[in-house]
Amino acid sequence: MKAEVNQDIIVFFNNRMIPLRDAKVGILTHAFNYGTGVFEGIRGYWDESRRELFLVRPQEHYERWKRNCGILRIDVRPKPSVLCQITSALVRRNQFHSNVYVRPLAYKSAERIGVSPDDKDAFAIAVLPFGDYLHSRDGVHAGVSSWRRISDTAIPCRAKICGAYVNSALASDEARREGYDEAIFLTESGHVAEGAACNIFLVRNGKLITPSVSEGILEGITRDSIIELAQNELHLDVIERRVDRSELYVSDEVFFTGTAVELAPVVRVDHRPIGTGKVGPVAAELRRLYLEATRGGISEYRKWLFPVYRPVAAGKAA
Ligand SMILES: Cc1ncc(COP(=O)(O)O)c(C=O)c1O
Repeated sequence: MKAEVNQDIIVFFNNRMIPLRDAKVGILTHAFNYGTGVFEGIRGYWDESRRELFLVRPQEHYERWKRNCGILRIDVRPKPSVLCQITSALVRRNQFHSNVYVRPLAYKSAERIGVSPDDKDAFAIAVLPFGDYLHSRDGVHAGVSSWRRISDTAIPCRAKICGAYVNSALASDEARREGYDEAIFLTESGHVAEGAACNIFLVRNGKLITPSVSEGILEGITRDSIIELAQNELHLDVIERRVDRSELYVSDEVFFTGTAVELAPVVRVDHRPIGTGKVGPVAAELRRLYLEATRGGISEYRKWLFPVYRPVAAGKAA
């Protein structure tokens, strides 16, 4: 059993900061019945030496959130820079001095029966202390799911639409019951899409390959960070294209990326060892760079970090 969240933490709900225990929605809320919400996931890392908490790319997360809310015609009024400030204020109000996860959620909030949505929207932001999502340093085992990725013509998965996560929950549950750490989705046409809650990369002959944005994936911000690190720091070619299932088996390396998983090397897929069956050099080096960059250890990538306790200026890096 996972630990329950402390109900005393302060969250942002209906434009106020209130304890989580009081932030409730009614059972007839449209989003609760029909999945008509869009959420985000942002990490923040505590830096003990600087006594500072850095949010990772919050501006980009909030820009993506607002754009993707548009798919469901949900209007989140505040600008991304204001949402960054609200998030910082929440961290300070809770006096978090540890790694955190931020969960913004916008939703259709009318309380009535009927699937057709109207224009009543609401949003909330919660910040929680958060540790490792996958214990991944020595690599994880993944299995191709029997569930196919929902297609963009059914529910767009480039947005974090609440209802779409039934697809991820089914795949994730199946994977864990079968002894895997994470699921890999294929699209309806049988090509590799992504993990249940992360993007996927392959290394073949020194090149980095990842399914393109039209292959049923979430347009991951960590995916984008990893591409930047791979190109700038390791001078790797990055190719976005279709990937076959069997290409995973013959790759030199495979790894997942995501806000929660960070960079998780995959050492077995469907019980087949990938490469040597151990964490490969490209995944290990990119993981090291990503962890260092997101903890403020590489000056070029401080642009990704938003300090909470000593903000320099709204939206600016440390
Ligand atoms: C289905 C899915 N793919 C990919 C990702 C990774 O996206 P990001 O790097 O923006 O967190 C997530 C993140 O939660 C996800 O849910």
